[in-house]
Parts: sequence; C-alpha cells; structure tokens
Amino acid sequence: MHSTFVLMLDLLAASVGAWLVYNISTYGRREKGLPPGPPTSFLVGNILEIPPKRAFHKLVEWAREYGEIYSIKFGHKTTVVLNSPTAVQAVMEKGSRVTQDRPTMWLFDQYLYDHDHLIFSSVPHKVNQLRRVFATFLNQTTAQKYVPIQEAESCQLLYEIMVGPDSFFTGVKRLTISLMFSLSYGVRAPKIDSPLPSLFYEAVDMINELLADVSALLDFVPLLRILPGWMVNWRKRTDRMNAQEKRLTSELMEGVFARRKSDTSTNSFMEQILDNPEEFGLSDNMMHTLPLLILQAGADTTACAILSVLLLLVGQDEVLKNAHAELDSVIGRDRLPTVADMEHLPYIGAIIKESERLRPTNPLGFPHAASEDQMYGGYLVPAGATIMVNTWALGHDPQNFPDPERFFPERWLDPSVEHADTWPFGVGRRVCPGMYLAKNSVAIVISRLLWAFDIKKKVDPSAGNPIEVDTLDYAEGIVLCPNKFEADFVLRSKEHGDTIKHELRGAIPLLETYEFGMAQSDLEYVEQMRRAV
Ligand code: HEM
Ligand SMILES: *[C@@H]1O[C@H](CO)[C@@H](O)[C@H](O)[C@H]1NC(C)=O
Ligand SMILES: *[C@@H]1O[C@H](CO)[C@@H](O)[C@H](O)[C@H]1NC(C)=O
Repeated sequence: MHSTFVLMLDLLAASVGAWLVYNISTYGRREKGLPPGPPTSFLVGNILEIPPKRAFHKLVEWAREYGEIYSIKFGHKTTVVLNSPTAVQAVMEKGSRVTQDRPTMWLFDQYLYDHDHLIFSSVPHKVNQLRRVFATFLNQTTAQKYVPIQEAESCQLLYEIMVGPDSFFTGVKRLTISLMFSLSYGVRAPKIDSPLPSLFYEAVDMINELLADVSALLDFVPLLRILPGWMVNWRKRTDRMNAQEKRLTSELMEGVFARRKSDTSTNSFMEQILDNPEEFGLSDNMMHTLPLLILQAGADTTACAILSVLLLLVGQDEVLKNAHAELDSVIGRDRLPTVADMEHLPYIGAIIKESERLRPTNPLGFPHAASEDQMYGGYLVPAGATIMVNTWALGHDPQNFPDPERFFPERWLDPSVEHADTWPFGVGRRVCPGMYLAKNSVAIVISRLLWAFDIKKKVDPSAGNPIEVDTLDYAEGIVLCPNKFEADFVLRSKEHGDTIKHELRGAIPLLETYEFGMAQSDLEYVEQMRRAV
C-alpha cells in the first residue's frame, strides 16, 4: 500500500517533470499553423533580435522578408504583424469583433488604472461606455464645434513664431496641450512652462520610462509583480507617477468647480459631464482617467504629427513654392486659411497626407489582441495573440508608393491613382476617437504656418552655411516625435504679419473665456502679448 502510493507519486512527479520539460522545450518555438516568421531561439523566441530602440525598423525589415503577414514569438507568446492593406482589412476590419481587445499591459491597465483607462482596457462594458463618451464629444459632427478655439490658439502660435522664430517647436507643443486642457477642463495654457503643463509633461516622462523598462517585463515575468516593494522599485516609481497624475487632474478639476461657482461656462467635457452625471455614469476613477487620457492621447500625438510635417518641409523649396502659390490664389494676404478652406487647398492636404505616410506618429499603431481564433490566407491568428498593424511598412511599401522614401505630395493629387490606406489613426473598433479633432488641428496649424512663413534651413551664424536637418532624428516614446530641430520661419510679407496681429486681436474674447482662474504668470504673459498687438 505504502509503496504503491510512493510509486504513484513517483509516476506523477515523472509525468509532471516530462510535461514541464516538454512544455518548456516549446517555449519560444513557433507553433504549427501560425504565419511564417524569423527563426526562433529556445525559450526566448525572437526577443533577442528586436533592438530596444527603433523596434519598428526590424518589424519593417521582416515585412519585406516575410510578406503581408508574419508572426514573432516572445517566449510562448505570439505576435502577429500585418503588413498589407488586404491583411489589415481582413483581420482588423472584417474580423474587428474578435480583434478589438488590447494585449495585457498589467502595470498600466490593472495596477495603475483598474481597467478604466480606455487605451489599455479590454473590459467590454468599460470600453463601450468610454468610447460612447468619446463619440458624444468628438464625432465627425461635434468635433466641428471646437474649430473656433483651435483657430484662436493658432493665432497665438503664429504671433509667437513671428516675433521669435526659434519658439516654433515648443509653440506647437503648447498649442496642443492648451487645446486638450481647454476642451476637457475649460482652461487654457498660454505658456508651456506654467505649473499645470509642467506637471503633465513630467508625468509623460515617467510613463515613457516605465514603458521603456518595467512594463513589458511585468507581463513577461508575472512573478515580479508579487515581489515585495523593497526588492523592486517599479512599485515606487509607478506610485509616484500616479500621485503626480492625480495631482494634475485634481488641480484642473478644482478649476472647474471654481468656475461653476462663478456662473460662467466653456461647455468643456468635464462641465458637460457634471451637468448630466446620469447620462454619462462615470465612476470617480473614470472622472480621473477619462480627461487624463485626453491629455495623454491628444496632446503630444497631435504636436508630433504637426512637427513631423514641419521637419519634412524644411528647405523643400519646390514644395513650399507650390504651397504658397495655392495659398496666395485661394486665400490671399488679408485673412488666414480656415478648416472650411481645406477642400479648396488640395496641395496643403496632400502635404499632410504625405507626412502621415512617411512619419506616422504611431509606426506600429497601438497593439490589439485576438479574443478568438481567426484564419487569414491559410494561417492561424490564434486567440490570445497580439496583433500589430505595421503602419510604417504600409506607408513605405514601394508597390503602393513608388520611390517611397521621397517626400512627394504630388503623389496624392493624381486622380487616376487610388492610394492604399495606411491607417495613421488605427483601424477596427479601437480606431482613434480623437481623429476628427486631430485632423482639424493639423489642418489649421499647417495651412496657417505655410500661409505665413517660408520654412528655410537655418544658417549657422559662425560658419555661414545652412544647417541640414535629419528627417529621421526622432525621440523614442509612446509616440514617434521629432527631436528638436533647427529651422528658420521667415515671415512672407509685412501684410501677412499685419493679418496675424489683426486675427490675434479678434481671437482675444474667445481666448479670454478660457482664462478663468489661470495662474498669475500666465495672465501676465497674455496681457503682455495683447499689449503688443
Ligand atoms: C494626429 C494626432 C493623433 C494620432 C496620429 C492618433 C493616433 C491614434 C492611434 C494609432 C490609436 C490606436 C488605434 C488602434 O488601436 O487601432 C489611437 C487611439 C486613441 N486616440 Fe488617438 N491619435 C491622435 C490624436 C488624438 C486626440 C486629439 C485624441 C483625443 C482628444 C485621441 C484619443 C485617442 C484615444 C482615447 C484612443 C484609444 C482608443 C481605444 O483604445 O479604444 N487621439 N490614436
Ligand atoms: C506550457 O505552459 C503554458 C503556461 O501554463 C501554457 O500556456 C502553454 O500552452 C503550455 N504549452 C504546451 C505546449 O503545453
Ligand atoms: C454625434 O454626437 C451627437 C451628440 O451626441 C449626436 O447627436 C450625433 O448623432 C452624432 N453624430 C454622428 C455622426 O455620430
């Protein structure tokens, strides 16, 4: 009896052991039926071949090698990468019901935001609820309501660049964060280094750092999550960031409450939500995560998209000449272009599209996850797999875009060519809900900057030669953003300058409605600017 028991235990241990050996031996190996891909290594799969920086360049290289769909292995996890318009349409659009989840990002989705942060969440009722809120505020029709404040903010940007051309980089960043503050909380940010924008940018840096080292590790080795806090510092860093984000949203919210006592309104998102709490049904945590997400997803993405266009335009004399000719004939000198003019400014539109193709802000989109098995082209996209849309590869595919590295807006103007979509705003049920707002921001800022300025290479004051720009000099982060670069914004004529001042004066009343309770340093800054125009 006793020995039978021991024998059974031995057998059990042996079979568990054999299973473990077998199981571990499959780690990193590509299962049968998956799309092809680069050879894997034992345990790790393809991890070691992916460089820590510019991972997407490797994923683009593999797209050229393996074609429209391939798979890579991270240990026992599978990632499927889509590289052709047909594959994206089939898996992400036709198959959108089973590809709308996000892969696990435990640190952010669960530990930090409790599934209430739309970008990370896969909990169906939360995702639906939050996307409904976005659809109310930012659908194609409602997004038009914000054009006046977008145009008003752009007047400040034009004026700042006119009096200090080197401010263009921070000026663009300021404009986009100011818009997100204004739309969410009804308060603008006339200076980028004021307390609230600074709090925000510090928090973004902290997120980027957590993304760069610990976030993926905690998904890959879940054991690390339960090690005591004193052994690992991710918990301390994450808690510090959380405190920072909470401070930011609660200070902004205090501004909203103060405004409500004063009986004035900007009809910001948070004011609308407070007016109709039942309609929106947001929990306290969502009252924190929803506007926070708007700042996180809406500010730098838009700024970086605008800065990419500018980077690509520096010293492109031919393109600038064509753009100026179009603006001169359609707009003239005594008014600024508006969103409504865009349909008559096809060349400006083509410049923006060409930049979205060449320098997508999210070169690999944002990852999705499969909730059920799906077949494509005879290959299995298995439940649980991470799915990436290789936006960069789509835009640089020589079959669809001949001479793909060339910045050539004219390619979009040939009516006989129908260009493949590259989905710069994502695809499927998680497509960017801020898309219409973002497109208006980019159109307003780019058309107006082109209207006002010639964008030249800066001349090195000591050597006297032009400073070249590197159009691939980008910072690594959540979004692909140009590093600071040199450019000279030369006002096209005195009349253009007069129009800028005139329009900035006209924008003052609207800007002022967003200046309630603003910091003293901000008020001084706007007053000084207004005295000058
Ligand atoms: C040029 C600017 C922008 C670009 C290029 C951009 C791009 C993207 C992309 C690629 C995604 C992922 C889509 C997917 O998973 O398939 C996304 C998601 C998202 N974007 Fe944008 N975006 C921009 C501006 C904005 C703005 C202005 C807002 C808000 C006001 C915003 C809010 C969001 C949100 C909330 C999500 C998450 C949606 C979800 O997970 O369901 N974005 N964006
Ligand atoms: C090995 O174990 C992991 C984790 O439990 C599991 O997901 C995977 O399917 C197993 N692999 C095989 C081949 O049984
Ligand atoms: C946009 O949202 C508004 C307000 O919720 C709604 O009345 C309208 O039908 C929506 N329009 C579209 C195009 O979805």
